[in-house]
Amino acid sequence: PHNRSFSVSSAFDFQSHLFPLSSTQGNGYAPIGAPISSSGPQTALGGGSLEKHKTLTYLNGLSLIVGLIIGSGIFSSPSQVNVNAGSAGASLIVWALAGILAWTGASSYAELGGAIPLNGGPQVYLSKIFGELFGFLFTWCAVMVLKPGSSAIISIIMGEYLVRAAIGAEAENVSSWINKSVALVGLLVVTLLNCISTRLGTRMGDMFMFMKFIALLGVTVIGIVVAVTGFSASGEANQDWKTIGWFEGTSTSASSWAVALYAGLWAFDGWDNTNYVVGEFRNPTRDLPRVIHTAMPLVILSYILANVAYFFVLPIKTLNSSNTVAVMFGNEVFGPIGSLLLALIVSASCFGALNATTFTSGRLVYVAGKEGYLPSVFGKIGIRNHDEPTSSRLRTRNWASKLLAKLCGDEETGLFFTPVYAMVLNACLTACYVFVGEFGTLVTFYGVAGYTFYFLTVLGLIILRVREPNLERPYKTWITTPIIFCCVSLFLLSRAVFAEPLQTLIVVVFVGIGVPIYYWRIAGRDQVKRESGSSGRRGWKFWKWGMS
Ligand code: ARG
Repeated sequence: PHNRSFSVSSAFDFQSHLFPLSSTQGNGYAPIGAPISSSGPQTALGGGSLEKHKTLTYLNGLSLIVGLIIGSGIFSSPSQVNVNAGSAGASLIVWALAGILAWTGASSYAELGGAIPLNGGPQVYLSKIFGELFGFLFTWCAVMVLKPGSSAIISIIMGEYLVRAAIGAEAENVSSWINKSVALVGLLVVTLLNCISTRLGTRMGDMFMFMKFIALLGVTVIGIVVAVTGFSASGEANQDWKTIGWFEGTSTSASSWAVALYAGLWAFDGWDNTNYVVGEFRNPTRDLPRVIHTAMPLVILSYILANVAYFFVLPIKTLNSSNTVAVMFGNEVFGPIGSLLLALIVSASCFGALNATTFTSGRLVYVAGKEGYLPSVFGKIGIRNHDEPTSSRLRTRNWASKLLAKLCGDEETGLFFTPVYAMVLNACLTACYVFVGEFGTLVTFYGVAGYTFYFLTVLGLIILRVREPNLERPYKTWITTPIIFCCVSLFLLSRAVFAEPLQTLIVVVFVGIGVPIYYWRIAGRDQVKRESGSSGRRGWKFWKWGMS
């Protein structure tokens, strides 16, 4: 029984887990959890593995990725794109370019996700292609900084807009701690909901996706109506857009374009997130590419239309000087009611993005726990013992929790059949970043580290094509796709490195710290494996594996 809480690969060889000789699936990759519970001594895993309960449908995947991508960016970063691109026409081009770049990245990831249908995304791809160290370093950065950092940014923006909705323009003068407190409450709610039930999380996601599309569609329609009729809250006909010189003033400097592109890319960021949960799809090989090829064009189109609407409604000067473009938009058309409405929409959009990112971050941390990169408790499911057979669990539950499970749609697996500990860790780290609030550094870190790993992963796709041409790839993207992605992201990376050498150094040092930690974790894991293989007696070394 003391073996129960072993993380999956601490108890068997990582390599053979990732690349089993005797494949259990056509393409040679088995979902985490599956091959072990049927063979090794780890039958104790029982029902305690997420991937055994494949719950995600095409719609869930779509709302997950759309919900994550459409967050704050389209409502707040247009000014950064405009200012750096220099003209309205150029900024529309930047939005299109950013969208297409994200789409090429997502298509590349779809190929990898189909060939290696495991939870964890880049962690498993990098491990396979470049060796486990790279997979670990990705996880190290993603779990410690990238994931909680981006959640912190989104939740702070959500807080700001909620406060703005509550008290109007006064919000500019309130202490940042008020915004932060609201952000923390939002984070708490989202984490709690996602801990209670997987279905609850995905259902909320579905709801938010529709809301976001309707909001962006609304913005577009209003923009067109305003352009045609000249309607505005003040009653003065608003026809500024007729005087826009669409390409007048277009920037000619490569670095301005790079900055504009970065701002646009933030709004498109999150396209990689379905890959973290591939293992939980009912039909990953069919649905992953389908999700990506519906989500990306829809998002690109709605972003471009929303931007056109902004240009129709707002004078360029206002547009370029505001960080709350959407609220300005609402105010211009409908007055204070409009700004209230838009502030609410933006905060709801951020809340939805926070929900989606919490869902996937939880899975990433969970996989890291299972691989032994983190203490094994983070690779566990639920706050109750989900290793018991489901039937006995159901019998012991009281009527209230049964009813709740039914309402959430989780009768089969039960409540708290989620990576609870992983989500709590993620929420704690996010809260730290919210407190510290050093977003300048965080954003640069996100740009440099994030794009390094995007680049490496997509480069890995190309390498894998050469090295393993016969690997079964249910979905294959055009080879130009990863090549374009690699070239553009290399360009962006080099710009960031030269523009922010000091911040880049922070990234390098942080990644460097991950290297000794990797050897420490792996040495610990292998020793546990050796000991568990030799005799029945296992001296429990808590310092090695944490709180099991
Ligand atoms: N695209 C989102 C927004 O505009 C940000 C996504 C952040 N990335 C992430 N993996 N959570 O707000």
